[in-house]
Order: sequence, then C-alpha cells, then structure tokens
Amino acid sequence: MTANIGIRKILTSFTRDRANLIPILQKSQAQKGYLSPEAITEIGHFLGITPNDIYSVASFYAQFRFERQGKHTIKVCQGTACHVRGGQQILEAVERELRLKPGQSTTADYQFTLERVACFGACALAPVMVIDDTVYGLMTVSRALKLVAEYRGK
Ligand code: FES
Repeated sequence: MTANIGIRKILTSFTRDRANLIPILQKSQAQKGYLSPEAITEIGHFLGITPNDIYSVASFYAQFRFERQGKHTIKVCQGTACHVRGGQQILEAVERELRLKPGQSTTADYQFTLERVACFGACALAPVMVIDDTVYGLMTVSRALKLVAEYRGK
C-alpha cells in the first residue's frame, strides 16, 4: 500500500523500542500532516502496541491530528479578551464563509481547517485570528472574510 511505504521508511530509522513512539508519531505526522488509521496500525505492528493504546497516548498531545487537515489552518481566538471584542462573530462569519457544518472543521476541498483557540497570549491585539503562522490582530468580520478570500487562492 502506497500510504504505508512512507511510514515503513520512517520506521527503518527507529528501533522497536516503545520509547520511540512519540518521535515516530511526530515524523509520521510531518509527512502527511496527520496520522491516518493505516499509519497508526503500521506503527502499532512495529512497536507491538495496539492502535487503541497509540490513540490514547497520542491524544494527550495537542500536536497530533487524526484527520486530514486543510492546506491552510485558520485559528480564531475565543479567549475572554477576544470574545468581548467580537471573536465569536468572527468565528461564526468564517464558519459560514467556509460552509462548515456543525462539528466539521475542514472544508470539503481540504483548502481550510478552522479551529477555535482559548488564548494566543496576544490579548492586546484582540480580537486575534491566526492563519498558518501569521498573526492578524484587531480583526473585524469584514477583514477576516477578505483574508479567507486571499488565502483561498494561495
Ligand atoms: S484572549 Fe485572544 S489572544 Fe488572549
């Protein structure tokens, strides 16, 4: 299976020591942006751990993703400072713009993944929105929608 060839290649640089689980997960995620069920199974075989055990360890770490992510990640802050300055309206407007259904975080075309974040630690810039690694402060609904349109083409 093509999906597993990449994982197998990664595994050749590790010993079958369970202490290698986290570095293996990190390298595997770096390859595709998320940990697929096939990757988890392959890693489990290699280390002699069940997929369920891998999920329960990995889910402690916010860095690991188990679903395919969009090309761009939009994070809208919902912390107190951002909330009182319109963070909720920005989030809802972006959700509508991306046509996300309740519970859906990635667009059907895998162009965007939308996340709500508790606080970026940049409260002076509230409301804050982050796209990929760029922080956009003093956000408004109309600016947020313009940014979504800009990134759609990137
Ligand atoms: S509450 Fe939004 S950056 Fe702190």
